[in-house]
Amino acid sequence: MIINKTTASKLVNFDTENFVFGTTFTDHMVICEFEDGVWGEPRLMPYGPLPFTPAMMGINYGQACFEGMKAYKDESGDVFLFRPNKNFERINKSAKRLAMPELPEAIFMGGLRTLVDIDRDWVPHGEDTSLYIRPLIFATEEALKARISTKFMFAIIASPAKSYYTEPVAVKISDYYSRAASGGVGSAKAAGNYAASFYPTLLAKEEGYEQIIWTDDATHENFEESGTMNVFVRINDTIYTPKTSDKILDGVTRDSFIQLAKHQGIEVVISDVKVADVLAAQKDGSLKEVWGVGTAVVTSIFSALGYKGEKFELPKLSDEDSFAVRLKKALVDIQTNKAEDPFGWRTRVEKLN
Ligand code: COI
Repeated sequence: MIINKTTASKLVNFDTENFVFGTTFTDHMVICEFEDGVWGEPRLMPYGPLPFTPAMMGINYGQACFEGMKAYKDESGDVFLFRPNKNFERINKSAKRLAMPELPEAIFMGGLRTLVDIDRDWVPHGEDTSLYIRPLIFATEEALKARISTKFMFAIIASPAKSYYTEPVAVKISDYYSRAASGGVGSAKAAGNYAASFYPTLLAKEEGYEQIIWTDDATHENFEESGTMNVFVRINDTIYTPKTSDKILDGVTRDSFIQLAKHQGIEVVISDVKVADVLAAQKDGSLKEVWGVGTAVVTSIFSALGYKGEKFELPKLSDEDSFAVRLKKALVDIQTNKAEDPFGWRTRVEKLN
């Protein structure tokens, strides 16, 4: 790895109290280029713009995918990654589906550890804070023929984050738009999946909803995801979540919630989650909670479900009674080294640079 550190850190000018998610970047980034059939040597360099032209294939045809992950600082200042192997596996799954070259583990993990090590002072201290890390791969060939690019770039950038408490939000169950289709790219973290979700979400916002609960493209009878997250439903004391498929992202937070819930003795059913069953449970009072989970916000709790012009309120549970709140706390406590880690999810970032 070639290392070229900045001579002027921006950290002194960073307001640790007031910042907006994903808008401030750390001093460095890692880049690695793929050309002539091989990945080159990764480079750590000062964060900044890169020279590309509008003919770059990645922005014309959307051959691009990304990951979202976080680093955490504990009270003694040690820095940890959370299940980074899951993100490594998934970026390669996404790359394969989008006909992009898979990354060697040494480039992904080496780049990640070096960036987080060198920019460790950017990992915020304090309750519910973290460093959000964005690894991405995109096509860089300058060519307009619609085919697989021959050149790619892998990059890792990082941005300080704090988990903000948000009031529960109303969400709309989609009866028309879909996030993914059978045989499509829903299970890949493809950049275009996010672009495709913006317009339906804008329409839902105009109707007073914050996010969409995405339903299957064929019948719109089954829950798939919510917003940019996986979705969980609690009926009585059982948690339901859709099983992963080629339409549903295999979320790291989703998998962690499932394992934590089972560990706490909560029954988890991974199966079809039918819109009709959820609405019937809302009517008979057995629907207790619906929430989304993802790396960025960890948990987004829903206050109401909109469906075909009707709005159905969800119960307001206290923090003690909410499975979503309880599981989020258990997860964050493991991530930030406040609790035992029986699953071996936490990995310390050694100080090497
Ligand atoms: C995540 O929560 O992991 C996401 O993918 C959200 C990101 C698009 C900001």
